Amino acid sequence: MRVLIVNGSPRAKGNSDLLCDAFLRGAQEAGHQVEKISLRDKVVHPCRACYACFQTGACVQKDDMADLLAKVEAAEVLVLASPTYFLTMSGQMKGFIDRLLPKWQGLSGKDAYIIVTGHDGRQGLRRNAEDLAAILENLGDSVRQIIWGERVWKKGEVLGTPAMEEAYQAGRHLGVR
Ligand SMILES: Cc1cc2nc3c(=O)[nH]c(=O)nc-3n(C[C@H](O)[C@H](O)[C@H](O)COP(=O)(O)O)c2cc1C
Repeated sequence: MRVLIVNGSPRAKGNSDLLCDAFLRGAQEAGHQVEKISLRDKVVHPCRACYACFQTGACVQKDDMADLLAKVEAAEVLVLASPTYFLTMSGQMKGFIDRLLPKWQGLSGKDAYIIVTGHDGRQGLRRNAEDLAAILENLGDSVRQIIWGERVWKKGEVLGTPAMEEAYQAGRHLGVR
């Protein structure tokens, strides 16, 4: 399967990044075609709400999003990873999601996975995960699993927690029902 992992954390080698890598390793070992994208490396301007894309199918802004949107369209499995910022997803992740607008009716039917991180326990990360899940379901995708990187604050704290193995196993067992 074609798998696209999108990391919405600005921290290189941070907790979300490490969980994405564990998922990626599992999926690669299972023979899938996997690509990981870190939004921190991309230029994605905020949606301008001009609605030109409703006429043309493309955004008027010339940044990295056209390329990202093509990758999202092509993916059979979509993994969204985000740290929890003030109870929900990072601004980077939300900005990316808003820019899905040109193709929002053509992104259904994917298997979706969610990776959330945060210093709180699961209850504090719940809104982040639920917001991402609601968006994916609204697009017509099926959320297969949420990976909870809970009680991790500093860079790398997720290493050695059960979430690492959960992310690896989720990647390893993609498509298995
Ligand atoms: C602006 C900001 C807001 C945050 N808000 C929360 C929060 O509401 N709940 C929480 O559990 N952690 C919060 N955190 C902590 C991060 O979610 C936590 O450090 C996480 O591990 C970061 O993931 P990363 O290493 O992938 O960047 C916040 C961090 C920042 C920078």
